[in-house]
Amino acid sequence: MSKGTAIVTGGAGTLGLAISEALKNDGWSVIILDRQEALANFQPPEGIRADALDITDFEACRAYLAKLPELSVLVNNAGIARLAQVRDISLEDWRQVLEVNLTAPLVLTQLATDLLVRSGRGAIVNIASIAGIRAGFGRVAYGASKAGIIQLTRQTAMEYAPLGVRCNAVAPGPVNSSLVRAKLSKEDFDEYLEDIPANRMAEPEEVANAVAYLASEKALYITGQCLAVDGGFLSAGAGIKKAQQLKP
Ligand SMILES: NC(=O)c1ccc[n+]([C@@H]2O[C@H](COP(=O)([O-])OP(=O)(O)OC[C@H]3O[C@@H](n4cnc5c(N)ncnc54)[C@H](O)[C@@H]3O)[C@@H](O)[C@H]2O)c1
Repeated sequence: MSKGTAIVTGGAGTLGLAISEALKNDGWSVIILDRQEALANFQPPEGIRADALDITDFEACRAYLAKLPELSVLVNNAGIARLAQVRDISLEDWRQVLEVNLTAPLVLTQLATDLLVRSGRGAIVNIASIAGIRAGFGRVAYGASKAGIIQLTRQTAMEYAPLGVRCNAVAPGPVNSSLVRAKLSKEDFDEYLEDIPANRMAEPEEVANAVAYLASEKALYITGQCLAVDGGFLSAGAGIKKAQQLKP
C-alpha cells in the first residue's frame, strides 16, 4: 500500500528521476512534474506518473494542486543554471534563474501547504547546491538562488513545524551525469575532482538516497537542515591534495 503521494518537480532530469525512483522504492506514489518539452521524449519508469507543468506558470500550478486529492511529500528539484560573472549577468538571466530556482519553490510550498498539513506527516525537500554555500566562478545567479532556497528551507521549517510539516534541503556537489561531463572539459572535470576529498563526483542515486531519507518517517525529528552530499567538498581546506594521495 502506498504511503502517500510525493511530487518531484523536474523529475524528468538526471537527479529528479533518481529521486523519483528512490521515493517509489520507499513506498510513495510518485508524480513527476516537468515542462512539456522535457516530457516529450521521456518515458517515466513503471508505476510513476508524469504530468506536464511549468513551475513558473503560477496559475497553472495553483490549478494543478487544487485538483490533487492528497500530498505528503514535495521535492522542489527543478532548477536551471546560467553561468555569468557578477559584472556581466543580464537582468533577464538573473530573473529567470531566481524565478525557477527560488520563487517557484516558494509558490509551490504555499500552494501545497494545506495538503501537506492534512497528510499528517508532510515533508518538503528542497534541492539546493554547494553553490549556495561556497562561491563558484560564474555562479552569481545560481549561487544566490541556492543560498536563497537554503534560507527558505529554514524559514519554512520554523513556521511549519507547529503545523506538523518538516522542511529540509539537500545540497549536492557535482553529480556524475552526462550533462556535467558534456559541460566541463576534461581539464575542468579533473580540476574539479581535485577539490573533492572523495576524488569523484556523486552518483545521482547517492543524492536521491539523502532526499528519500529526509522525506521518510526515519527523519521525523529533523527539520530546517541542509544536508550536503558532496564527498567532503565543503569541509575540505588546506592540504586537500596531500590528503587525496593518502593510501589505505
Ligand atoms: N547535476 C548537478 O551536478 C547538480 C549539483 C547540485 C545541485 N543540482 C540541482 O539539482 C537539481 C536537478 O538538477 P539536474 O542536474 O538533474 O538537472 P537537469 O537539467 O537534468 O534537470 C532539471 C529538470 O528541471 C526541469 N525544469 C527546468 N525548468 C522547469 C520549469 N520551469 N518547470 C518545470 N520543470 C523545469 C527540466 O526540464 C529538467 O528536467 C537542480 O535544482 C540543480 O540545481 C544539480
